[in-house]
Amino acid sequence: MDLRASLVLITSSLFFSVAKACSNGDCKLLDPCSSNGDCQAGLYCFSCPLEFSGSRCVRLTTTNQFKLLNNTLPFNKYAFLTTHNAYAIEGEPSHTGVPRVTFTNQEDNITRQLNNGVRSLMLDTYDFQGDVWLCHSSGGKCYDITAFEPAIDTLKEIEAFLSANPTEIVTVILEDYVQAPNGLTKVFTDAGLMKYWFPLKNMPKNGQDWPLVSDMVADNQRLLVFTSIRSKEESEDGDGGMHAGNCPNRAESSPLNDRTKSLVLVNYFPTFPFKQIACEHNSANLINMLHTCFGAAGNRWANFVAVDFYKRSDGGGAFQALDTLNGKLLCGCDDVHACVNGSTSLSCNNDINVDHS
Ligand SMILES: *[C@@H]1O[C@H](CO)[C@@H](O)[C@H](O)[C@H]1NC(C)=O
Ligand SMILES: *[C@@H]1O[C@H](CO)[C@@H](O)[C@H](O)[C@H]1NC(C)=O
Ligand SMILES: *[C@@H]1O[C@H](CO)[C@@H](O)[C@H](O)[C@H]1NC(C)=O
Repeated sequence: MDLRASLVLITSSLFFSVAKACSNGDCKLLDPCSSNGDCQAGLYCFSCPLEFSGSRCVRLTTTNQFKLLNNTLPFNKYAFLTTHNAYAIEGEPSHTGVPRVTFTNQEDNITRQLNNGVRSLMLDTYDFQGDVWLCHSSGGKCYDITAFEPAIDTLKEIEAFLSANPTEIVTVILEDYVQAPNGLTKVFTDAGLMKYWFPLKNMPKNGQDWPLVSDMVADNQRLLVFTSIRSKEESEDGDGGMHAGNCPNRAESSPLNDRTKSLVLVNYFPTFPFKQIACEHNSANLINMLHTCFGAAGNRWANFVAVDFYKRSDGGGAFQALDTLNGKLLCGCDDVHACVNGSTSLSCNNDINVDHS
């Protein structure tokens, strides 16, 4: 027998069986795929050449911990996916008439981000053209070539989401360079967001638990806004008890182990976003970092994890990282799906059948 011919035969039949393995919405996590439509709900077809060859189904959505379990615990017992520079979106048309010359951090619009389960958005706000804009910049000044869009457009997308999803909570984390008096208050008001505002006076100041999520929902206080400028706490609300960190943390924020702050934010993104390596960065590296940050934060799991290109991964990515955090926070298990029957860290069921809804 001609060995070469049989080799060819074997490879081609192998290829055949792989290609035929699944299609039309049947493909499971990490199955090879050729289009998004091949993958089960909650997955999409993606290629991460650093980790696997060809295209495979990877996760696209978070687990909704409130639906999987319940929302009767304090807000600080849950973890939320955060998009870094959520407004710096690839393909956003220029709104200044001048082509933009700057980097992007995300690939889909705010509405898509929220619908895929992002619950916290990092936005950089600047005075620009007599209004508040979202912009990349340095030195606190926004330029035509670095401006993305007027903040009102993004805030209206958040308003539409909160209105359509009456049990969801959204957190906005502002890197704020707005000097115009009450500039931020005006733009949040104009976007129709004040009716969802979580008041500063209700934010715990000394490390106590936050209100129950179910109460925040019942009171319609479903928008949390944190700003980077402390002096605005009084006049414009915002901030009240979050500390941010890269582990080791950024110079300007309180030490990660400051227990007067009851929420922990972990930033996990490089100084300059690099799309091609984001899938590797958002995978095992991210989960390892969350374990490191647990120690750095005084044995506390993060509540917010901020990433670039949040959908890019080699399988579970940031979505799996969130399942881990919610598992740890809610029942001490490695995955929130293990909490379902009231498990505790003593009885984690590690043999879970993950359903990505
Ligand atoms: C809600 O979920 C938490 C965490 O799993 C659990 O401890 C609590 O008993 C649940 N409450 C209800 C009312 O089911
Ligand atoms: C966001 O993107 C989706 C899909 O590309 C599109 O259908 C939708 O109209 C966009 N929404 C907004 C508010 O831009
Ligand atoms: C959860 O509890 C239900 C009802 O008691 C039981 O049928 C099911 O097997 C349990 N699931 C797990 C993962 O323990």
